[in-house]
Amino acid sequence: MAEKKPDQLSLAEAAAELKRLADEIAEHDERYHAQDAPIVSDAEYDHLRLRNAAIEERFPELVLASSPSKRVGAAAQEKFGKVRHRVPMLSLANAFAEEDVTDFLSRVRRFLNLPETTEIEVTAEPKIDGLSISLRYERGKLAQAATRGDGAEGENVTANALTIADIPAKLAGAAPNVLEIRGEIYMSHKDFATLNEKQLQAGDKTFANPRNAAAGSLRQLDSSITASRPLRFFAYAWGEAPELPGETQFDAVMAFRKLGLPVNSLMKICRSPAELLAQYRDIEERRADLGYDIDGVVYKVNRLDWQERLGFVSRSPRWAIAHKFAAEQATTVLEGIDVQVGRTGALTPVARLRPVTVGGVVVSNATLHNEDEIARKDLRIGDTVIVQRAGDVIPQITSVVLDKRQASFKPYVFPDHCPACGSAATREDDVVRRCSGGLICPAQRVERLKHFASRNAFDIEGMGDKIIEEFYHDGLIQSPQDIFTLAERDDRSLKKLKDREGWGEASVKKLFDAIDQRRGVALDRFIFALGIRHVGETTARVLARAYASAAVLRDQMIAAVPESEAFNELNALDGIGAVVAHSITEFFAEPHNVEVVNELLRHVTPAALAAVQSSSVVAGKTVVFTGALEMMTREEAKSMAERLGAKVAGSVSKKTDLLVAGPGAGSKLKEAEKHGVEVIDEAEWFRRVGG
Ligand code: IVH
Repeated sequence: MAEKKPDQLSLAEAAAELKRLADEIAEHDERYHAQDAPIVSDAEYDHLRLRNAAIEERFPELVLASSPSKRVGAAAQEKFGKVRHRVPMLSLANAFAEEDVTDFLSRVRRFLNLPETTEIEVTAEPKIDGLSISLRYERGKLAQAATRGDGAEGENVTANALTIADIPAKLAGAAPNVLEIRGEIYMSHKDFATLNEKQLQAGDKTFANPRNAAAGSLRQLDSSITASRPLRFFAYAWGEAPELPGETQFDAVMAFRKLGLPVNSLMKICRSPAELLAQYRDIEERRADLGYDIDGVVYKVNRLDWQERLGFVSRSPRWAIAHKFAAEQATTVLEGIDVQVGRTGALTPVARLRPVTVGGVVVSNATLHNEDEIARKDLRIGDTVIVQRAGDVIPQITSVVLDKRQASFKPYVFPDHCPACGSAATREDDVVRRCSGGLICPAQRVERLKHFASRNAFDIEGMGDKIIEEFYHDGLIQSPQDIFTLAERDDRSLKKLKDREGWGEASVKKLFDAIDQRRGVALDRFIFALGIRHVGETTARVLARAYASAAVLRDQMIAAVPESEAFNELNALDGIGAVVAHSITEFFAEPHNVEVVNELLRHVTPAALAAVQSSSVVAGKTVVFTGALEMMTREEAKSMAERLGAKVAGSVSKKTDLLVAGPGAGSKLKEAEKHGVEVIDEAEWFRRVGG
């Protein structure tokens, strides 16, 4: 059928065609970028885009929020496509003490049944503190790059990997048909400092450490941003590799180097525990001069036939171990203690420190957890303290250098009034002091709004913490429902959002579109977003399933006074105990909260969750997943089981009904055998649930 010219289309026809084009182009984008499997030629694709543009030009009032014209060519993806790893990307077991290293070698010897006299060669190399990546080369060309993700499935970052100078687009010399190189993306200390400096000047966010900077830079939807970031790469392992060049770990990695891949020059073959430990100490000594972050030394059994025999336990190989460095420490001065007020009014102290470098990262504050911890350590403002940072963890103060304490430093007195609103702050449960100001407390209100819009709640794109704070302070958003009237109020207002600094017509439209998109939010997210104490995502899901609509939930909770039928019903729900039930009914007993819910329901229509198939064979059963799942991700497995009415647990106990075990299953499998729990594999799972 010949296409009508845009100006021959009726309004309704144009609207329908724009919708169809948006969907179709989005599908081609997804196939092209995420699946690498386009089904149309470039010319056909271009034709669709041109047609879309022509109709939009004739009917500008019909331009969709999701229009392909709003996305630019190659960067059309809204998020990365998924890549299923052909060989799972595993992690490493850790060793901290020297005897963990000797134990590792004894285990290897025992497993392989080798006599004491047989020498076991083990490679030792730095453990790079970056993020792992899998690079798939086909006939020598980089065909796909993927992040680790959950080990089974990662994100397709091919376009970005191609911008990294250390990663060759083409391997040198005679390359095998298929070779998946695994290694670490990282950023040097120098480049990290320069990048942060640039970010600061541009008013963009700075990164806490080189690893975050590397991860943030790699995971950019716009690969020109990745290209501008100085990322580096080391190859140290492999995934699918049918023609692996070498019979030992060392030779394989050396062969990678010949193919043009950067490998770490500190890798060495050791022949005894003593040699391993000497290499460990040597690398630790060089650590400060390397110019990039490392957090330990990785040992790997050198012979690949032995690696093969040793195999895996749970998520890590038996043939390798990471010998971690001890946490790093530094001495600095405690300049102050700030008390922050959270969403539920909890007062949390934060130490303000004179900035100090700990393990290559500048630290200027540290967690103090709660007032008891300050008292226990007797921290006083002015004290010289020892700060420790271990890997990812937020820095902590380990102790006070008492020699440096001066008589004028007074014991710290924790405030008994809220620093934000002045209301009394009291301790009800054991450690946490809370502001009693409730909704009059501006700090609590802002925190609640942040929670409301956050990723696991309403998930309003573009409405991050900073914007909420700004909008709150400028009186634009005081209560959650104000988010949904923002656009119409802006229409009437003389001080338009688009005229604010840093904003413009396009960014305002984008925000309003993002808000509109969430008016049909899922009911469990709606409930979670209300920020009821003790109601996390799981409880919100239980409530959403039990009450099916926000109005029913509201009415039932208002009716749920103690002893009532409604209360008993709530209390009887699986996973809802007395404390949670009490907290929910208390929330709905507060007229102001009911008003917020009512107001919200004028603007949003929460969608009920898909019905649980109570007829399924796993309905009501407690299921645990373990090992490397190959047909689904952990998340998928979990949501599928829940949809089928099963409860998914993280560990095996005698209450477990079913263990679904993939390759590499370890301790959970043993537990299941101990308790006589039925164990099936992934294929059997699909057979049973009819997938
Ligand atoms: S070997 C099968 N070697 O550490 C295990 N990993 O804690 C393959 N890492 O996910 C990994 N430096 O991201 C290996 N020289 C190295 C490493 C290294 C850093 C990371 C890697 C892995 C994590 C495990």
